[in-house]
Amino acid sequence: MKKILLLGGLLAAAAVAQAQKRTAFEPGKPWPDNKGTHLNAHGGGLLYDKGRYYLFGEHKIAGPAGNAAQVGVHCYSSKDLYNWHDEGIAFAVDPDGSGSEVEKGCVLERPKVVYNKQTGKYVMWFHLELKGKGYEAARTAVAVSDKATGPYKYVRSYRPGAGQWPQGFQEAWQQPVPGEGDLKWWSPDWYKAVAQGLYVRRDFAPGQMARDMTIFVDDDGKAYNIHSSEENLTLHVAELTPDYQGFTGKWNVIAPAGHNEAPALCKKDGKYYLITSGCTGWEPNAARSFVASSIWGPWQPLANPATGPQANITYNSQSTYILPVAGKKDAFIFMADRWTPKNPIDGGYVWLPLRFEGDQPRLTWADRWDLSVFDQPRTKTTMALP
Ligand code: GAL
Repeated sequence: MKKILLLGGLLAAAAVAQAQKRTAFEPGKPWPDNKGTHLNAHGGGLLYDKGRYYLFGEHKIAGPAGNAAQVGVHCYSSKDLYNWHDEGIAFAVDPDGSGSEVEKGCVLERPKVVYNKQTGKYVMWFHLELKGKGYEAARTAVAVSDKATGPYKYVRSYRPGAGQWPQGFQEAWQQPVPGEGDLKWWSPDWYKAVAQGLYVRRDFAPGQMARDMTIFVDDDGKAYNIHSSEENLTLHVAELTPDYQGFTGKWNVIAPAGHNEAPALCKKDGKYYLITSGCTGWEPNAARSFVASSIWGPWQPLANPATGPQANITYNSQSTYILPVAGKKDAFIFMADRWTPKNPIDGGYVWLPLRFEGDQPRLTWADRWDLSVFDQPRTKTTMALP
């Protein structure tokens, strides 16, 4: 009798687990992991490695203190992108009072992990702000591991581009212009001064600021760190060394004074596409998009990729990553965060299919969708109606 009851219980538990197996994305809804806990991987990025996806993101705790890093970077794994297995903390912050750059209470945002074929190491980059210093440090930092799931060991942080001018920077721009510091922000002269290196000059010796960031690995194996720099006014793209743990010194600006944050990048048919947000802190705003034939630019600005209701606030979210779906051609998932700074652990995830109309990346809201959308031939929205 006991045995039968036990078997019955096991079968019931298995049935519940089966029923809970997810078969679709539900943007903005709570997203339970294998233990039934809402995913805790904010500002995240994805790694596809040996048939498995790994999601890395900021582990948040309840209450406003959770906006700083109290724990570290959380990792989950999945075979289908819908069901996530908790792999625990991949990178842990150092204990309180340790004095380390990655001490508990620092700000650690937007972690991204890439695999380096030459070294066989997994390399994690993130935006780092030093404890108690607000957002003034503006650094980008790296940690490495022999396993995708960690533990990642801290290497160091950087201000990129120290002592290096960006690509195409004219010699005449290397010297400060008298009075440039007094120019009124957003005035035509100020725009011109920013485009001609106002902040690049200021930060030439210590290195350029690096806040919101992403990492992009190109088809040739070269990797790039793309980050908001120059007081969040201008994005920078900086080439990584072959081991992905440092900078080669080759870098360039993207959209000077364009005020872009939250960069996410993908490549399709040899072209680079960039989606960003504007700068309104935790509040959502309208996304922007850009296209370029070379990662070094020129980057042509396109339209807001979002369409339909709430397109003006990116469906109440902010971009963090664009995932090329493994094994499917031209299948990209736009990943974004719904920030809840009063209780950051509640932050939601908005994942939507990213489509293209010519060069224009396009997002449309879906309450529920699955990967089969990428198998259906696209009806051309440009098709003329009778
Ligand atoms: C957002 C940014 C987040 C975080 C936040 C802080 O704009 O994308 O990563 O830095 O500001 O206010």
